[in-house]
Amino acid sequence: MKHQEPFNILLVGAGGREFALARKIIASPLCAALFVAPLRDAFCGLEKVQSASPSALTPDGLVAFAKEQKIALVVFGPEEPLVAGVADALRAAEILVFGPDKQGAQLEGSKSAMKQAAQAAGIATAAWQVAESLLEALHFVQTHFAESPNAPLVIKTDGLAAGKGVVVAESEAQAEAAVRAAMESKSFGAAGARLVLEECLYGEELSFFALLDGTGGILPLGSVRDWKRVGVGDTGLNTGGMGSLSPAPHCDAAEEQAIVEQFIRPMDSYLRTQGANYRGVLFAGLMRTAKGLRLLEYNVRFGDPETQSLLPRLRSDLVPLLLATAQGDFSTLPAEAQPVWDSRLCLTVVVAAQGYPREYAKGGTISGLDTLAAQTSAEAGGITVVHAATRCDSSTGNWLADGGRVLAVSALADNLPNVKAILQRAIQQVGWHGSFYRTDLVATDTADNGQANS
Ligand code: AMP
Ligand code: GLY
Repeated sequence: MKHQEPFNILLVGAGGREFALARKIIASPLCAALFVAPLRDAFCGLEKVQSASPSALTPDGLVAFAKEQKIALVVFGPEEPLVAGVADALRAAEILVFGPDKQGAQLEGSKSAMKQAAQAAGIATAAWQVAESLLEALHFVQTHFAESPNAPLVIKTDGLAAGKGVVVAESEAQAEAAVRAAMESKSFGAAGARLVLEECLYGEELSFFALLDGTGGILPLGSVRDWKRVGVGDTGLNTGGMGSLSPAPHCDAAEEQAIVEQFIRPMDSYLRTQGANYRGVLFAGLMRTAKGLRLLEYNVRFGDPETQSLLPRLRSDLVPLLLATAQGDFSTLPAEAQPVWDSRLCLTVVVAAQGYPREYAKGGTISGLDTLAAQTSAEAGGITVVHAATRCDSSTGNWLADGGRVLAVSALADNLPNVKAILQRAIQQVGWHGSFYRTDLVATDTADNGQANS
């Protein structure tokens, strides 16, 4: 590796995923200082985090800031800047970047591009069609339900829609409504100008994460399951994710190997034949169906809240992995820098504002976090609290809720009953009126309606 001396790192993004990344980055002896863009209050309390932050997240703004602060490595959390090609601008200015180029990021930026790539790479995915117009989409809907009246149809906006652009339509009426919402009412703006209509798959969902160095090097990280529905027992609206567990249930070493060979390696090869410069994490969203594993989607970044369950299991230093990815050469990674994983499982539960993912209030006071941090640091459960959307009231010093998914609490244990018990005790110490979490993720009794601390 070129950078053995500690160096400055810029992390783009400031949600729960980035808080989990930041905590791992600052724990590295290779990190001299960490800059975060945009800078939220919770990050300021972390050792090594600097008070300067780029004023604009534009390519020019980031390049200028990186030069000014002597940043050696820029790490991207969210997909939007990658899809917009910001990584390309930084690389053109000879700054090392963790995150794919604009072409590689199309895997997440366009569902039709992703499906075409999967097909070209021979990757197993749901049968699909692209509709470029309302008429075309309505025609597909009609034909589908005429041929298979009982088979739901999955309707996806082609572009980025903050995780809300997917509808599983059970009936022709639902499918037509979804198509009209996207293409006639333009509920998702330009993202809905093109639709992907696909076969509905059934089974258990799981996600897999691997680092790609862009030159054929693949470093598998691990599997995670997340719970997307807002309500107890997987009911209600889809969210960004209400909890996560790593490794994903039933995902053993043989299945991990199969995932790498069937979903990671062929896509890596395809991307390289297309001339993409994919140096970052590839997140494969999969369904374990009766016919085997099928690809649901690729994301070009770490998951949120998957990262909150994956990273506590990484016992070794994250920064050499990010750096080798950005340098485009895993062969420079010395044996002692290879990832070492905790054999325990890590469970994460998101504490959200009541109303999320619809309307919710901001500003509620959250107590108990300092006590929790002090109490749990010594505890075997390795409890971690991630700030996803908080701010600090400067007059009182209190933490205030400042978003929908506000905190994520994680714990490690040898088995599921133990990790649930540890996590439940921890979450109960979070004092915040107006919050809720998926109580079923930490309890065997799922009769509760998911409200807590209210
Ligand atoms: P995506 O953004 O494509 O991952 O879709 C979001 C969620 O919609 C996934 O996590 C699944 O729960 C669901 N989903 C997407 N595609 C399908 C499909 N073909 N069959 C069943 N469920 C799907
Ligand atoms: N939790 C799902 C995602 O990050 O896309």
